[in-house]
Amino acid sequence: KGCKLVGCGSAVPKQKFSNDDLAKIVDTNDEWISSRTGILNRHILTGKENLTSLAVEAAQKALEMAEVDADDVDLILFCSSTPDELFGGAPEVQKALGCKRNPPAFDIRAACSGFLLGLVSASCHIRGGGFKNVLLIGADCVSRYLDWTDRKTCVLFGDAAGAILLQACDSEEDGLYGFDLHTDGFGSKHLNAGMKHIETNMALGFDGDSLGFSPTHASISYIQMNGQEVFRFVIKVVPESIKASLAKASLKLSDIDWLLVHQANQRIIDHLATKLEFPMDRVISNVKNYGNTSAASIPLALDEAVRSGKVKEGQTIATAGFGAGLSWGSAVVRW
Ligand code: ACO
Repeated sequence: KGCKLVGCGSAVPKQKFSNDDLAKIVDTNDEWISSRTGILNRHILTGKENLTSLAVEAAQKALEMAEVDADDVDLILFCSSTPDELFGGAPEVQKALGCKRNPPAFDIRAACSGFLLGLVSASCHIRGGGFKNVLLIGADCVSRYLDWTDRKTCVLFGDAAGAILLQACDSEEDGLYGFDLHTDGFGSKHLNAGMKHIETNMALGFDGDSLGFSPTHASISYIQMNGQEVFRFVIKVVPESIKASLAKASLKLSDIDWLLVHQANQRIIDHLATKLEFPMDRVISNVKNYGNTSAASIPLALDEAVRSGKVKEGQTIATAGFGAGLSWGSAVVRW
């Protein structure tokens, strides 16, 4: 059995912040941000907008392109580490889409690698689970977890959602040729937003007697990152992973039309292309307009590239995700 990509969509918050806007709240400047990262703008969730509404907008566009009704979706995978709801953002998305047949909907939490893991999971659910239409959404609002006084992290990120519809097909039409996935939990010290569990000193009990336990309350610390370690890790592992995916697909890099890696920053994208000796004019990048949008970055860039006519039907894309975990992976797909 095969699976193919049949629709894509994306959405970003209305509020746009330029580098100059950031320079008003933190000690930074446009020259530093643009020369080190290539980022010029990012969109940030504010006011009444939330991640669910962005995800729904992206999903509806993907369904429209695929000409598939929300009622015909069999499974929703919501790749997000920053859902509106702690117990999972997928059910709210499913409710808002109005899928009447109650298809299963659940979250995949793997930071910037989330979309790649979701893509492979979607294909496995189609190939082995009998699902026909799988809605895959990557959405994050990292802005909620940024320390807006830390110039080393707050300038890098933006909020967004992207979606793809994957559909079951005959094996000759299969559009996911090969993949490669990894996690190294020992690397989490370089990039994390740790959960803290704080003991609450509540006097619990009857008539003043303690019950003998202290409940804890969770709070999440801001995103911490050792940028140079993350950079080194990405440049080392991602080209190896892309080569592994190509080998599984029995393809060479010269067979690939487009390279689309997680949009962390332009320097990483350029270094990866250079290390792979892949031509720059076939590298997809929109990081300058949106910053690093975590699990949304790959479908957001794909959607723009498809709708602008850059990526054409039948073309082959090598894609890779990497980020907190540390986690990384790649896949070779056909649009
Ligand atoms: N504005 C002005 N100055 C800054 C800023 C800023 N926004 N941020 C840092 N600086 C200063 C630092 O304080 C430091 O000054 P000092 O030398 O006086 O101490 C100097 O600039 C250099 O700081 P570094 O952190 O060494 O800067 P570096 O050259 O490593 O660039 C960057 C930082 C762009 C984050 C780089 O390390 C990188 O690309 N890392 C990859 C990690 C990444 O992109 N993570 C995104 C999230 S994870 C993911 O998606 C995989």
